[in-house]
Amino acid sequence: MEMAFTVRLLLLLIPSFFVVPISVFSQTDGKVAAGASLSATAGNNSSWLSPSGDFAFGFRQLENKDLFLLSIWYAKIPDRTIVWYANGDSPVAPKGSVVNLTANDGLVLTSPQGQQLWKSETIVGVVAFGVLNDTGNFVLEDDNSESLWETFKNPTHTMLPGQDIEKGGKLSSQQSETNFSKGRFQLRMQNDGNLVLNSINLPTEFANQPYYASGTTGESNSSTAGTKLEFNSSGYMYVLRENGQKFNLKAETVSARSYYLRATLNFDGVFAQYYHPRNSTGNVSWSRVWSLPDNICKMVVESGLGVCGYNSICTLKSERPTCECPSGFSLLDSNDPYGDCKPDFIQGCEEDELSPTKDLYEVQVLTNIDWPTSDYMQFYPYTADGCNESCFSDCLCAVAIFRSETCWKKKLPLSNGRVDIGLNSQAFIKVRKGNSTLQVPQLPRPDDKKRKNQTALIRVGSALLGTSAFVNFILIAIVWLGFLVIYKKKHGKSNQQVLDLNLRSFSYEELEEATNGFKEELGKGAFGVVYKGILQIGSGVQVAVKKLNFVLQDSEKEFKTELNIIGQTHHKNLVRLVGYCDQGQQRLLVYEFLSNGTLASFLFGDTKPSWRQRIDVAFGVATGLLYLHEECSTQIIHCDIKPQNILLDDYYYARIADFGLAKLLMMNQSQTHTAIRGTKGYVAPEWFRNMAITTKVDVYSFGVVLLEVICCRRSVDMETSSDERAILTDWVYDCYLEGVLDAVVDYEVEPLQDKTKLERFVMVAIWCIQEDPSLRPTMRKVVQMLEGVVEVHVPPCPSPYNRTG
Ligand SMILES: *[C@@H]1O[C@H](CO)[C@@H](O)[C@H](O)[C@H]1NC(C)=O
Ligand SMILES: *[C@@H]1O[C@H](CO)[C@@H](O)[C@H](O)[C@H]1NC(C)=O
Ligand SMILES: *[C@@H]1O[C@H](CO)[C@@H](O)[C@H](O)[C@H]1NC(C)=O
Ligand SMILES: *[C@@H]1O[C@H](CO)[C@@H](O)[C@H](O)[C@H]1NC(C)=O
Ligand SMILES: *[C@@H]1O[C@H](CO)[C@@H](O)[C@H](O)[C@H]1NC(C)=O
Ligand SMILES: *[C@@H]1O[C@H](CO)[C@@H](O)[C@H](O)[C@H]1NC(C)=O
Ligand SMILES: *[C@@H]1O[C@H](CO)[C@@H](O)[C@H](O)[C@H]1NC(C)=O
Ligand SMILES: *[C@@H]1O[C@H](CO)[C@@H](O)[C@H](O)[C@H]1NC(C)=O
Ligand SMILES: *[C@@H]1O[C@H](CO)[C@@H](O)[C@H](O)[C@H]1NC(C)=O
Ligand SMILES: *[C@@H]1O[C@H](CO)[C@@H](O)[C@H](O)[C@H]1NC(C)=O
Ligand SMILES: *[C@@H]1O[C@H](CO)[C@@H](O)[C@H](O)[C@H]1NC(C)=O
Ligand SMILES: *[C@@H]1O[C@H](CO)[C@@H](O)[C@H](O)[C@H]1NC(C)=O
Repeated sequence: MEMAFTVRLLLLLIPSFFVVPISVFSQTDGKVAAGASLSATAGNNSSWLSPSGDFAFGFRQLENKDLFLLSIWYAKIPDRTIVWYANGDSPVAPKGSVVNLTANDGLVLTSPQGQQLWKSETIVGVVAFGVLNDTGNFVLEDDNSESLWETFKNPTHTMLPGQDIEKGGKLSSQQSETNFSKGRFQLRMQNDGNLVLNSINLPTEFANQPYYASGTTGESNSSTAGTKLEFNSSGYMYVLRENGQKFNLKAETVSARSYYLRATLNFDGVFAQYYHPRNSTGNVSWSRVWSLPDNICKMVVESGLGVCGYNSICTLKSERPTCECPSGFSLLDSNDPYGDCKPDFIQGCEEDELSPTKDLYEVQVLTNIDWPTSDYMQFYPYTADGCNESCFSDCLCAVAIFRSETCWKKKLPLSNGRVDIGLNSQAFIKVRKGNSTLQVPQLPRPDDKKRKNQTALIRVGSALLGTSAFVNFILIAIVWLGFLVIYKKKHGKSNQQVLDLNLRSFSYEELEEATNGFKEELGKGAFGVVYKGILQIGSGVQVAVKKLNFVLQDSEKEFKTELNIIGQTHHKNLVRLVGYCDQGQQRLLVYEFLSNGTLASFLFGDTKPSWRQRIDVAFGVATGLLYLHEECSTQIIHCDIKPQNILLDDYYYARIADFGLAKLLMMNQSQTHTAIRGTKGYVAPEWFRNMAITTKVDVYSFGVVLLEVICCRRSVDMETSSDERAILTDWVYDCYLEGVLDAVVDYEVEPLQDKTKLERFVMVAIWCIQEDPSLRPTMRKVVQMLEGVVEVHVPPCPSPYNRTG
């Protein structure tokens, strides 16, 4: 027994033993005398540590085990993120390379053959020491501890707190996630005081127009011109002006005391600040504080590439760009998802002469996609049909974009492609007919082969969900295409000409069949009854069909607009809308089917979910709402957040349902009996007070739901609770005041062992249920407070005017 226990204990200890770095054994004062050297060999000591052991300087073995990178990295965290590297013509050094700390030349990196690979810039003076500071700065000092050279003054892609960039200085991105060669993006502090982000046309340094500029040029008054970019030791980043004022890049940051902070120009051109807990015991990684620019997909480079390669389309995903080829195109280099796409067919006037165009091509229509450059002809005023026709019959034309009565004809290669939601454009893409055009574009994903058959495709398409928006979009487009083909065969005509971005239109009969005559009811809500259905696609796809019980008069267009907005939301914590039916008076919505029911049955059922599961649910709902409020193309206020509207997927992740419907219903205001949209117990007071309805109503409801999740009981419980406990919000606040949180979790062990988090969650909930909407935090703040990234202050009484009891 004892033996087994000891072994187990040892096994438990071993992993953390490896995570806790070598620094435990070799605390130094970070000082290395001239004459020292490090060599790039696996297994030997090949780094110097800062006094605290936070940073290491030395050789890092790369994926290709024969290559090393002379660099500085975080030594205490498992992913050992690199913050600086020696970037000569070739930043990587072969195995056996040596770096010497020399008195006259500073750091000198030599290959095993004796060839000099890199050295620190000309040093004026004699180097006595190298010092790796706890700030992450490696400094070469002379005998008087004067700095002769430092990595902070010679940055690569990352800035750390305490570091600044003077006029003329810059950061350079690396080539790709794993290749440290010089990349296409720069952050420059220009001599005119402006801080800019721009791409360059490699191999030259030719800088394209900036895609971000701070505007601190001092044009109106030279005293406001920028002097340098500072990342101060509290984590704030700003351009310091001549007059001492600060232009903050972003107002937020997190505590530099509890977190490692860094600001990195990523290989995809996004400049972002990140944080990572200093004491990371678990499996945590870097999180983003902010990023610039807001949407890099919208950058336009007149004579060059955007973020993505030629013919590719950029989609923003978690504030980072992803690139995908349109269908009919595939990656030129399948290992470089950010690279160019080539057409899977040959197009040209000579080829086209061989047979009539009609037989050669068909047109795919995508909405909200644009390639803003690459056009050679523009028509105005014009019609969509004319635009399509004109491109179709022009052998030079590859794509036509139609928007606001204007038609642009474009030729290959297309550049700066992006998804631009809200643009309301149609792209008519000519692709060659026949078996080749129906092939799946070669998305850079491992399960490619499976997609080659429609059955599998449709299953993936409907299982969808959770993958990149663009992949979904591509999939749906392909699925659609598949449908079109099937329909053509069945009905001898194409039943719909325009492919919506990602929604399918169903006929009422189809859905009647799918639900077996609306037989199995899954639930009833404010908006209608939900039925289970199976679409007869492949081996059947389970869906939830919602029959809306309100009639929209003369608002077919608004209905479509709203649906398009809902259809364009893609988030792991939202239930996906797959399609709709809009036939006569019938309005139905088709959603993905989720297997694990509602949060209500999960929380208030027979077995209490674990504390861990409840925390996950709380985070899920919060991030889903944050997305609806701030991150999707059009802000969506849910208006009816409650456990019945939150579903759980196979992994018990929370997914918000019914978002976007409140607006639909509101369009139909005259038809409804009450203007109050939410559900009793969850609605914010402003609904009753004729105040503006903002996202803060959702914050209120979230607060109530959060308390229910914490306590595993309903917000109003007259039956089983005593009077002072009947209203959950009041009771929890009282318990909080009296410092008896044990009671709110019914003396459950897990949350009590996790008491700081319990207390934090309760405080966040109390902030959310403030009667005064302006006191409630935004969902972004809520997420940060739940995560513990920002401090949660003591909340005031939620309802100061009408406390019951
Ligand atoms: C470590 O370095 C020593 C001498 O520099 C060498 O003899 C030894 O083989 C090295 N060990 C490994 C594992 O590379
Ligand atoms: C290698 O590390 C050990 C401690 O782990 C230290 O005692 C030794 O001096 C180091 N050797 C060199 C050459 O830095
Ligand atoms: C660098 O250091 C190594 C090992 O200390 C030594 O053999 C070599 O001669 C040094 N090279 C230079 C250029 O100083
Ligand atoms: C090294 O870091 C300390 C604080 O950790 C700072 O006071 C000192 O100025 C730094 N030295 C250099 C050369 O950056
Ligand atoms: C990194 O990219 C450069 C430029 O494209 C290329 O020459 C080099 O071989 C790449 N390095 C690695 C390790 O793949
Ligand atoms: C520039 O602004 C400063 C205050 O910020 C003011 O004192 C000064 O007169 C201004 N100069 C001009 C030329 O407007
Ligand atoms: C950093 O900048 C912020 C914002 O200007 C300021 O509040 C803070 O005091 C600064 N911290 C330090 C250490 O200078
Ligand atoms: C990190 O952990 C150490 C020891 O566990 C503790 O002394 C220190 O205060 C912690 N630091 C932070 C910022 O939590
Ligand atoms: C850490 O978490 C990530 C995702 O959150 C997961 O993919 C990975 O397997 C985890 N690693 C460990 C060692 O648990
Ligand atoms: C397309 O069809 C032709 C004739 O039916 C066939 O020879 C060719 O191999 C097919 N191509 C592909 C990629 O399936
Ligand atoms: C399509 O894929 C499914 C499952 O992936 C498989 O069962 C079926 O046989 C495939 N059909 C064809 C025609 O390849
Ligand atoms: C575009 O034009 C072609 C050729 O006339 C036609 O076959 C196709 O249906 C049109 N597509 C749309 C969406 O108008």
